[in-house]
Amino acid sequence: MSSDNIHPIFDQLLTRRDREIRLGQQSKVLWLTGLSGSGKSTIAQNLERKLFHAGFFAQVLDGDNIRSGINNNLGFDLDARRENIRRIAEVAKLYLNSGIITLNSFISPTREIRSFAKEIIGDADFVEIYINAPLEVCEARDVKGLYKKARKGEIKGFTGIDSPYEAPLNPALEIKTDQLSLEKSVETIFEFIAPLIELPKSA
Ligand code: ADX
Repeated sequence: MSSDNIHPIFDQLLTRRDREIRLGQQSKVLWLTGLSGSGKSTIAQNLERKLFHAGFFAQVLDGDNIRSGINNNLGFDLDARRENIRRIAEVAKLYLNSGIITLNSFISPTREIRSFAKEIIGDADFVEIYINAPLEVCEARDVKGLYKKARKGEIKGFTGIDSPYEAPLNPALEIKTDQLSLEKSVETIFEFIAPLIELPKSA
């Protein structure tokens, strides 16, 4: 029997590195946390576009989209939020292993919930970015009209009103959206992550 016909399985296993090399990038999980209305989704969408134009391949995972699809059976008590984040972290990890950068935009309100996500994804690949705007600013923006409803008691357990938000103690990066323009916010994150997602020449 010719050894030409033997194809050991380990020759066929593709690694994350193979995929990263094909895509010309290193994958990471960018985790944007902050209050509703702080600017997470807008920043994530604009950053996704900027990365795309710079030759990177990234995908936004966003609260409102995920909650109308894969997580449409979850509410907003802390256990449900934890399960929301657990599933998202598992999805982000699948992307990570396929070489794709994800821009995760979720309130992820407590330190415990975020450290759970980090545990699933792995320390080296989890980049926590705090999208910070004071509650008063988010409430004044009230893009979706939800703060108004929460103040009237029409929504119970709204983050920042009657459900906690714990600011990150040591984020990789903090963006103060009441002080920086959208363009500058996106630019700042891009500059920060570029060295992390560029494939080394030697790869
Ligand atoms: S998380 O706390 O579980 O991380 P997630 O980011 O997925 O939250 O969803 C937040 C979005 O759901 C908000 O931007 C808002 O549009 C909507 N929402 C509906 N009810 C609530 C609530 N009680 N608290 C916060 N956001 C809510």
